[in-house]
Amino acid sequence: MMKLPAKGLSEEAVFEKLTAFADHDVPWREGKTLAYIYDGGPDVERVAKRAYMQYLTENALDPTVYPSLGRMERELVAMAASLLSGDQDVVGNFTSGGTESCLLAVKTARDWARAEKRIAMPEIVLPVTAHAAYHKGADYFGLKKVMVPVDPQTFRAIPAEIEKAITPNTALIVTSAVSYAHGVVDPIAEIGPIAQKHNVLLHVDNCIGGFILQYFRRLGEPIPDFDFAVPGVTSISIDLHKYAYCPKGAAISLYRNKALRRYQIFTTADWTGYTLVNPTIQSAKSGGPVAAAWAVLNYVGDEGYLAYARRTLAATQIIKRGIAEIADLRILGTPDANLLAVTSDSFPIFNVIDEMKALGWYVQPQFGFKGSKENIHISVGQKALEKAEGFVADLKTAVERAKAIPPSPLVELVKGELAKMKPGEAIDPAQLRAMMDALGVAGGQVAGRMADLNQVLNILPPELTKLALTEFFNDMAVQPR
Ligand SMILES: Cc1ncc(COP(=O)(O)O)c(C=O)c1O
Repeated sequence: MMKLPAKGLSEEAVFEKLTAFADHDVPWREGKTLAYIYDGGPDVERVAKRAYMQYLTENALDPTVYPSLGRMERELVAMAASLLSGDQDVVGNFTSGGTESCLLAVKTARDWARAEKRIAMPEIVLPVTAHAAYHKGADYFGLKKVMVPVDPQTFRAIPAEIEKAITPNTALIVTSAVSYAHGVVDPIAEIGPIAQKHNVLLHVDNCIGGFILQYFRRLGEPIPDFDFAVPGVTSISIDLHKYAYCPKGAAISLYRNKALRRYQIFTTADWTGYTLVNPTIQSAKSGGPVAAAWAVLNYVGDEGYLAYARRTLAATQIIKRGIAEIADLRILGTPDANLLAVTSDSFPIFNVIDEMKALGWYVQPQFGFKGSKENIHISVGQKALEKAEGFVADLKTAVERAKAIPPSPLVELVKGELAKMKPGEAIDPAQLRAMMDALGVAGGQVAGRMADLNQVLNILPPELTKLALTEFFNDMAVQPR
C-alpha cells in the first residue's frame, strides 16, 4: 500500500514528477481539443494565473473577513447580471462551476416550493436536453423528475409539452440557452408566460451559452430572447470558466431578486462551532478562482469578448461549411451558437473519434437518447479559428478511414445478447462484468478501441450504461498498486 514518503521529496523532485504525470494528458494548447477546454490564449492565461496565485491562500468562506473577495464576487455578479438584461434587483453568487449553479437552482426551487407552496414532494420539469447536472440536483435534493420530449428536428423544448407536465407539485422548469448536446436555445419567451401562469420557477441554463449568445447577437446572429428580459425567468446560471475563459472553478448563479435567492442560502447555528452561512455549496474555498475570474473579465472587457465571439463565429462557420461538404455527415438540428452534434446515417460515427484522435484531435461521444441519434460533440472556441480549416481536412480523412472499418464483432455480440433479454429484465452483475471484460474494460482501463466501447454503451439501455460506467469508475479510483 502506498504511504507518505518517509522523508519529504526535494522541490525539484516534486515538480519533475508533476510534469511527468501529465505525459498522457491531452495537449490542449495545440488547439486540437474540442471539448473540456476553453482557451483564451497565453496572455489571458498569464493574467489569470497571476491573480489566482495572489489570492490562492485567501479563504472565500467569509466575505466579512476577506472583504476583497466579497467585493470581487459582487462585481462579477453585477457584470453577469448586466450581460443578461438583469435590473438592479438581480442578485447572485460566485460558484465553483456550472454543476454547482445548477444544483443550487434545484435546491432553491425545492425550498421555495416547500415554504411558499407547501409542496412536500416538489417536481422539476426537465426537457430531455437539459444538462445532466439537473438530474444530479433532483437526485441529491430529492425532487421528482418529470421528463418531457423535445422537438425531434430542432431539439428545442416544446412549450406545450412543458405545460402538460406541470402539476400542483411543480417547483421548477429548466430550459437551456444553449443546450450542451445540440447547441440550441429553447423557446424561453414562450415558456416564460407558462411559468407565470402556473406560478412555478423558470431556470435558464446559460452555463455554456454565456459570453457567446449575447455577443453572437451583437454580431448579427438571430438569437431569440433567453434571459431576464423574458418575464417569468427566475434564475440563470452562467459559467465564467467556459467562454469567459477564466480558470476552472468559476461560475455565477443569478436570481431575479433577493426574495428568491434567500432559499439558496444555508445557515445553521445548531452546533458548537462557528455559525455557518453558506450561500453556495462549498464552504472554505480558495480565493484563487474568484480573483482570477475578476482579473480575466476586467482584462478582456466587453470589446475583448466581442472579438473572441467574432473569431468563434468565424471558426464555427468554417467547420459547419466543411461538415456540409461531407456527404456522410450531418449536424443535428440548427445550432444557435458554437456547439455542434455531428452524426452519420451511413456508418458508425464513433469510429471517427478514434480516427480523429490518431490525427491529434479530441472530439467527444454523445450517446443516442430519446430521438437524438448518437453523435460526436464539437465545442468551437476562439482558439479553433487557427485550426478550423485543418480540422475540416482531417475530418474528411477520418470519415474515409472510419467508413473502411468493418463492423465490430463485439458490438454485434452485445446486440445479440440484448435481443435475447426480455423487456424489463434485470442484467445480473456477473453478466455485465463478463461483457466489460470482453470489451477490454477491466480495472478502470480501456484496452480495446474506444469506438467499440462507445457503440456498446450507446446500444445498452441507459440503466445498463449507468451501471457499467459506475462500475468502471468504481474500479478506476482505487489505491495504486
Ligand atoms: C449547458 C450546461 N449546463 C451545465 C454544465 C455543467 O457545467 P460544469 O461542467 O462547469 O459543472 C455544462 C457543462 O458543459 C453545460 O454545458
